[in-house]
Amino acid sequence: MIYLDNAATSFKKPEAVYEETIKCMREYGANPGRGGHSLSIRASMEVMRVREKIGSFFNIKDPTRICFTKNATEALNIGILGYLKEGDHVITTSMEHNSVIRPLNTLKRDRNIEYTVVDCNDFGEMDADDIKKAIRPSTRLLVSTLSSNVNGIVMPVKDMGKLAAENGICFLLDASQGAGSIKIDVNEMCIDMMAFPGHKGLLGPQGTGAIYIRDGITLSPIIFGGTGSHSEIIFQPEMLPDNMESGTLNTPGIIGLGAGIDYIEKTGIDEIKKRKHKMVKILHEGMEEIGKIKLYSKNNPDSNSGIVAMNFYEIDSTEVSYVLDKVYNIATRAGLHCSLLAHQALGTVKSGIVRFSPGPFNTLDEIDSTLNALREISNNM
Ligand SMILES: Cc1ncc(COP(=O)(O)O)c(C=O)c1O
Repeated sequence: MIYLDNAATSFKKPEAVYEETIKCMREYGANPGRGGHSLSIRASMEVMRVREKIGSFFNIKDPTRICFTKNATEALNIGILGYLKEGDHVITTSMEHNSVIRPLNTLKRDRNIEYTVVDCNDFGEMDADDIKKAIRPSTRLLVSTLSSNVNGIVMPVKDMGKLAAENGICFLLDASQGAGSIKIDVNEMCIDMMAFPGHKGLLGPQGTGAIYIRDGITLSPIIFGGTGSHSEIIFQPEMLPDNMESGTLNTPGIIGLGAGIDYIEKTGIDEIKKRKHKMVKILHEGMEEIGKIKLYSKNNPDSNSGIVAMNFYEIDSTEVSYVLDKVYNIATRAGLHCSLLAHQALGTVKSGIVRFSPGPFNTLDEIDSTLNALREISNNM
């Protein structure tokens, strides 16, 4: 199988991710923070080590402000539902995933919260000045994706963070697409909260993710109990990370995530970006040569987190993806990619999009085979 669906979840993972996850389960799979025995303490310390690793990866000074979740969706819900109050106004973009839009719509319906979607151009590009125009006295939150999961377009995050900071607005970044191949410095980018999955570009196992919450920001928890700490009180402990980490953690997954980050650090984030973009470039240029193809992604490493989004002019995206899978053994994603607004912006609500998302372990031979498959499909049309 040629796996080109790394934007959904990365596969394969670095060897050390498999090894460390299993090692944790076999050697110290106790419950971190539940009990004072040595195995539980070891598990706690290993989890803390990964928290520190993530802190240093994103330039987060206090690792206790990083709370583990089971994915980016949970992290985004914690940030959005926990921060907003009745009467608040939110600004977001038309390239957001429904992990952002659905909580916002639910709050709009149930808690009198309003939100404005800032439009973008045909490639999903946004102008930070348009955000400025949308600011109201009641604006308390700006939520943006780092990069689109539909076509990889990268948002002007630094400008957004600056604008939010200047206007006293909290900036929540959804780093689901790009964390692991785009450098993120929460201080330099004025990021107040950041949600990210562990299982995509950070190369960890599924069931991992986290939210970073800047010092000074207080959220209301959305899940209560099961923290292990402060059993003497009947309410949720206020200190982080316990305040947001209810229930037993995915310790083996978190340990695997630590190994994923080690791999990225060792390989170099720029090298990973370079590898992915070489493949993206070859795919783009090959598709342009084949013809009969409309491309929705940009062939520029600084504007694209590593996705090729295309359609054959006359074929439904699900059909193309189906043939790639069944005839050529190539995994892509088709249809609507959990981002209705993005498809509206790109004009692909009816057709969907075929998405190719290479990862650091794909080879140039696999990319050649993919282009050969597309050439055959095109010739048979
Ligand atoms: C931009 C974006 N946000 C949020 C999510 C949700 O991530 P998860 O599957 O980890 O909940 C995704 C997943 O594809 C995504 O691409």
